[in-house]
Amino acid sequence: MADLSLKDVAKAYGEVKILSGINLEIKSGELIVFVGPSGCGKSTLLRMIAGLERISGGDLTIDGQRMNDVPPALRGIAMVFQSYALYPHMTVRDNMAFALKIAKKSPQNIEKAVENAARILQLTPYLDRLPKALSGGQRQRVAIGRAIVRDPKVFLFDEPLSNLDAALRVATRIEIAQLKEAMPDRTMIYVTHDQVEAMTLASRIVVLAGGGIAQVGTPLDLYDRPETEFVAQFIGSPAMNLLPGTVVKTGAQTTVELAGGGIARSHVPTRPADLGLAVNIGVRPEDFHPTDGAGIFSGTVAIVEALGEVSLLYFTPEKGAPAMIAKLPGTHADLRHRQVTLGADPAKVHLFHAGRSLLYR
Ligand SMILES: Nc1ncnc2c1ncn2[C@@H]1O[C@H](COP(=O)(O)OP(=O)(O)OP(=O)(O)O)[C@@H](O)[C@H]1O
Ligand SMILES: [Mg+2]
Repeated sequence: MADLSLKDVAKAYGEVKILSGINLEIKSGELIVFVGPSGCGKSTLLRMIAGLERISGGDLTIDGQRMNDVPPALRGIAMVFQSYALYPHMTVRDNMAFALKIAKKSPQNIEKAVENAARILQLTPYLDRLPKALSGGQRQRVAIGRAIVRDPKVFLFDEPLSNLDAALRVATRIEIAQLKEAMPDRTMIYVTHDQVEAMTLASRIVVLAGGGIAQVGTPLDLYDRPETEFVAQFIGSPAMNLLPGTVVKTGAQTTVELAGGGIARSHVPTRPADLGLAVNIGVRPEDFHPTDGAGIFSGTVAIVEALGEVSLLYFTPEKGAPAMIAKLPGTHADLRHRQVTLGADPAKVHLFHAGRSLLYR
């Protein structure tokens, strides 16, 4: 059991501010995922929670106890890194037991903890092997095992799967989901670049950008109701399309005349004063469908990528217009070089003004 609270947490290296105003309440048993562009401070924030990096301002509390000055070993936290760094001359069993031996636990307790972690991670058959005789995925599981044996209240993961190939990533991702289910009261914080990992593992996602938190919410909150264009384009792959236009009809449903000539209807409500407002409409590639009608966008398909279950249509950008992408079910190789008009359900058309969603006013 561990509730974490970050109040106005900040980090600076000398004059250089990396993070500021980080406010976050994490409930016991949550799996929080940090995402954000490279260099935005995800690892730094994780390392401050672990105690590996000094907190420059604000307070970190775990279960109500201020942790800023508590040494890492006394915080009840275990961290798993991208590079698993096992001791090469020690067996899996000894690698997992090492921290407990240092902590002078009894041999019976160590044995029990290692057997238990090996069972959870399906490593029992490998306990007497050396790391060099394991696959990358198995090695990363040993690294996770080293964290589990310490029975921490909080697990921190910094891109633990990024050294694995695509198939292993998927398999190990599912193991992490199962691990979480086997330990429902443990709090986990997980950093990743991988959209699918973030969407599938997180109870809530924290998007970090520009030195602060851009938005916090469940994966579907962020997908369906992004607060800003940045979050809209960061969550989801390929990114949401943005098209500039002007509000020509306000009300419970809004009509936008697009700079490219199309018309878009959106279920985002607007006020009479919004008439003439310059907006960007946002449509996810998967929310576009070809239409014979007027449509939102019309253009020439430059490239079709057939992925099997879906096809990605890349449109030729026209007169400084943004590059558009549509994701259609099935195969559509025949659409290459063809003129295609796209429409979207008004419930799936987002509206942004000055970078912010009109849903949040
Ligand atoms: N010891 C340090 N001194 C000065 N700046 C640092 C130090 N460590 C990290 N930084 C800077 O802090 C910023 C955040 O780094 P951090 O490693 O937290 O990013 P990240 O979000 O984890 O990125 P990535 O996705 O690439 O892992 C970066 O701009 C980095 O250059
Ligand atoms: Mg990092």
